[in-house]
Amino acid sequence: MAKLIIEGGHALKGQITVQGAKNAALPILAAAMLVPEPVRIANCPRLTDVEHMAGLLKALGCRVAWEEDSLLIDAGCARSAQLPEELAGAIRSSVFLLGPLLGRFGAAEAPYPGGCDIGNRPVDLHLKGLRAMGVRVDEASGRIRCQGRPKGGVEIALDYPSVGATENLIMAACGAQEDTILVNPAREPEIDDLMAFLNGAGFELRREGSSRIRVRGGRQGRSTVHTLMPDRIEAGTYLVAAAVTGGRLLVRDARKEHLSALLTALREAGCRIRHEGTDIDIEGPERPRELRRLVTLPYPGFPTDMQSQLFALCTVAKGTSVLEENVFENRFRHGAELRRMGADCDVRGRVALIRGVKSLHGATVQAHDLRGGAALVLAGLRAEGITVVEQAERIDRGYADLAAALRSVGGAIRREDS
Ligand code: UD1
Repeated sequence: MAKLIIEGGHALKGQITVQGAKNAALPILAAAMLVPEPVRIANCPRLTDVEHMAGLLKALGCRVAWEEDSLLIDAGCARSAQLPEELAGAIRSSVFLLGPLLGRFGAAEAPYPGGCDIGNRPVDLHLKGLRAMGVRVDEASGRIRCQGRPKGGVEIALDYPSVGATENLIMAACGAQEDTILVNPAREPEIDDLMAFLNGAGFELRREGSSRIRVRGGRQGRSTVHTLMPDRIEAGTYLVAAAVTGGRLLVRDARKEHLSALLTALREAGCRIRHEGTDIDIEGPERPRELRRLVTLPYPGFPTDMQSQLFALCTVAKGTSVLEENVFENRFRHGAELRRMGADCDVRGRVALIRGVKSLHGATVQAHDLRGGAALVLAGLRAEGITVVEQAERIDRGYADLAAALRSVGGAIRREDS
């Protein structure tokens, strides 16, 4: 159990550097299973989700080792295609291993995946796509059993541009003999990072316009070095931290082209933003303006992974904000926690109405999920008095050490582990 203890009221100032992207690291680690030679993943963040995925690869027989900020994976000696229950149950991304295991061994077995409690999170689109590639999929006793090498020679249309299903299916397709075309794939930049890794490893994938991905069949995996893209959600969290505290931060290694929906919202809230190369300089207003209507959508729409942080910002805005969550159905649990800190907000289904208050006050609150937890930390930085965020280990899934990062720019925040 971990707690973050925050003394609010200090505007953040200084420079902060973004790490490699969690949501690129997880599928790329899984994709290493397709390559029977060593690969190096550089700029890899040391997050609990990444450690979990590395643990899963080890359990499947891969050699995995850290070398500074690089993770070295050699899947040459992997033999097993069965994911162990306990490890795989802990992270949702364990499901990403189905595609690469099928591509490599023509078999895969996994329990239903775990992850943050932000909605139902079914895997039907993943399994429908695998079936369309000729894989036999049986679901019984909480396990998913897949048999048969993906065949290729098919065009698969996703009913919804799911990030995970797109990644899983393109990895499965790398093991096919013929070309596979994925129609209506997700457009998140982490998918392009995965494709860049796979292309570097000898496979051949390309986007054909924004609505198709073609994966060439009959290619073999080979050794490669890949540097992960910077984490746009971590960058976004720091940008909102500056905005919410009325501070000024230079966020380094942040790609503005990945953050445009967020930057638009932050400008609407009254932030001054400048960018140069891969640096973003943000200056928060004394008190933010309200966001009249913010709607989460698949990329390039506003990311659901930034909704909770902006929720925290809206609690202290001058007027009333409306947030609509369209990606996950249970992603407003931070609303009730923020109310303990004096926020004036109502949640009805997928819509939150937030009437800004002049100030929040410190309270003891629970991090129910990763980004909701980060939002409470941001609110604590602004609030008067002391905020204690409990179950902070959930925040470690996506931030290597959020407390240390915020302390380095003037946040009065410390961690207690028990
Ligand atoms: C990924 C990200 C997560 C982000 C999300 C949306 C990783 C490791 N995680 O999650 O941080 O919040 O994208 O940007 O990259 N769905 C189905 N059936 C399926 C798959 C998905 O109904 O088979 C639904 C989900 O329940 C959800 C929506 O589709 O409502 C979006 O999910 P998806 O895009 O798949 O997100 P993840 O890959 O789980």
